[in-house]
Amino acid sequence: MNINDIPVITIDGPSGTGKGTLAKSLSKALGWFLLDSGALYRVIGYTAQIAGIRFYDIPGICQHTEKLKMYFGEKEEGSVEVIDLSGQRIDITSEIRLEETGLLASKIAVIPELRRILLGRQRAFKKMPGLVADGRDMGTVVFPEATLKVFLAASAWTRSERRYKQLINKGVNVNIDQLIHQQEDRDRRDRDRKASPLMEAQDAWIVQTDTLTADQVLELVLKRVNELGLETG
Ligand code: DC
Repeated sequence: MNINDIPVITIDGPSGTGKGTLAKSLSKALGWFLLDSGALYRVIGYTAQIAGIRFYDIPGICQHTEKLKMYFGEKEEGSVEVIDLSGQRIDITSEIRLEETGLLASKIAVIPELRRILLGRQRAFKKMPGLVADGRDMGTVVFPEATLKVFLAASAWTRSERRYKQLINKGVNVNIDQLIHQQEDRDRRDRDRKASPLMEAQDAWIVQTDTLTADQVLELVLKRVNELGLETG
């Protein structure tokens, strides 16, 4: 089997559009592998901070990343573990999901050298029977050959409201104004950076999700997958 024959579906878009939810449910429905590329940036941002490396120390961040051992989904679905400074394997699943970690991730994600190092690690997720990859540059840079490129969009208000509800449901106490501000800050950095900025691929299918539920978005994408005749696993 040639690597080019392995189907890939990319899901890009700004934060709070439901990429993660769609990627997870789609990969399950198809029986395909899942790449949550944001988790890579979150893990690096978080562990670099613990190691005392500042987000603007480019050589420091790159050396840290090259050495870092990460384990995704080995303990349970969605779990993330790393080897810490003392050689212990530790679970950082909840730490990387914090809003502060998302901001840190977005700050280190502007480093082109780091993005280059992560290219190979991301492409290694492409395995039979297929891959669903979610992030910001999946369809433009990491998997430009993808069979289907979904770009999820929603207004800034809808996205903040969704994130707010998600956090409140998790028992996290948040201020909606602060959340909107943090999200705008992150989106601006993700869109304006020089290296692989967040943008629609030329051949992307843009799905406006403001008035759709997560189930409706999944249904819509599965219909397209069917029309394209993509194999199910
Ligand atoms: O998808 P997420 O919220 O977990 O991503 C966290 C940050 O990581 C996001 O603000 C920008 C960065 N990121 C990126 O630059 N490229 C990706 N493919 C995925 C995430």
